Amino acid sequence: MSCPFTGTRTGPTRRGLLVGAGGALASAGAASLARAAPPVSQGEAELREPFFGVHQGGIATPQQTHTYFAAFDLLAKARDEVATMLQLWTGAAARMSAGDTARDLGQDVSVEGPDGGSALGLMPSRLTITFGFGPGLFSKDGSDRYGLASKRPAALVDLPKFNGDHLEPGLTGGDISVQACADDPVVAFHAVRELARLSYGAAQFRWAEAGFLPQAPKDETPRNLMGFKDGTNNPRRAGTAPTPDSPKSFDAVVWVGDEGPDWMRGGSYLVARRIRISLEHWDRSEIDFQEQVIGRHKYSGAPIGKTDERDSLDLDRVDGDGNPLIADTAHVRLGAAATNGGAQIFRRPYSYNDGVRFTAERWPPWRQGMMYDAGLFFLCYQRDPRDGFIKIYENMAKLDALNQFTTHTGGGIFACPGGIREGEFVAQRLFST
Ligand code: HEM
Repeated sequence: MSCPFTGTRTGPTRRGLLVGAGGALASAGAASLARAAPPVSQGEAELREPFFGVHQGGIATPQQTHTYFAAFDLLAKARDEVATMLQLWTGAAARMSAGDTARDLGQDVSVEGPDGGSALGLMPSRLTITFGFGPGLFSKDGSDRYGLASKRPAALVDLPKFNGDHLEPGLTGGDISVQACADDPVVAFHAVRELARLSYGAAQFRWAEAGFLPQAPKDETPRNLMGFKDGTNNPRRAGTAPTPDSPKSFDAVVWVGDEGPDWMRGGSYLVARRIRISLEHWDRSEIDFQEQVIGRHKYSGAPIGKTDERDSLDLDRVDGDGNPLIADTAHVRLGAAATNGGAQIFRRPYSYNDGVRFTAERWPPWRQGMMYDAGLFFLCYQRDPRDGFIKIYENMAKLDALNQFTTHTGGGIFACPGGIREGEFVAQRLFST
């Protein structure tokens, strides 16, 4: 039998399981189901993202349309218990990314069963699972509970409090993050559910968020809930030339190099922010004003005064009266590398929609009532947050015209280790030292 931690394929695919069982999962024994594995079809193989490699999936991976993100608090008393949970998680994550059930059906998993089954019959859907560690893994409430305090990377700083922050404790922080991304929301949610099941007693949910993107045609920038294209001026992917607005390569912006501990090399730092958008207020603003706030045209996505989405921002351009075409308080000016001493991040955000709830808006003042709890689940990756999100957002939090429509209600910072080698579990080198 194969090692359960390496994810080596021994059982049927999720789809094969149904095909082989004639749909009668409940009535068939696991052993007979396991014998029914059909060959993997060409189409199914194309819907798989690699799990093992130099980098974890879900960062450079072309963005899937759905995410389910969960931050966990650790309950484990000893480092070994954390390592055991990560071994189980790695094995299950590898299997699910390949389109399999979370655990091998031939294993003795009589207590909790091999898989909850909510993704049975579904394709791998380009599932990726990305793990990250919050500051609480290294020390919590002043206690070095796992003997890892001295291993905390310098770049895993506590995020400062920014102007306008309304972070709710129940939506903020976390010792470990698990982000599942897939082109099917059920596949993403199922993956996190299975990992949560395997972590029983060692970790518990702190907060979670589901996100989605429109099914934009291939190579088109998706729009966020404000109706603007979001992602235009991200660092270019490997193999494409840098531009004046995005001068650093993707690799230089995102991946930790020799400056980090070995378990972080090829990894990245994730800053997550749950940002509620006052959609009622936005929907009543004129498009002209919306464009001034962002600094780009709404329909084309081009910088103000230009026609093509990919045209350069040219921040020095002025109108006939000498006023900047892209306002001093425009979001893109404040986010631009040129405004931030060259600092760049890679944004991989999703929209979120959690219905409506009673809200007291901070702007317009005193407006209160039932409002959408919807907005942007902002996720960005970088080599060092001190020279990425923190540097850029410090200024933005004070000056951005967008702030009159947005409120940061939660989030966290997580060190996402480098890629996982076959036969190892995530961050094994951190735990074995
Ligand atoms: C609800 C919140 C937000 C919305 C709706 C939003 C939307 C946008 C849009 C429409 C663009 C222009 C298109 C593009 O280049 O992708 C943009 C650019 C950008 N945003 Fe945001 N954003 C939000 C929050 C943030 C936050 C919190 C940061 C933190 C650093 C940020 C950083 C950036 C950066 C760096 C750019 C690229 C600027 C450039 O170089 O042109 N955004 N955003």
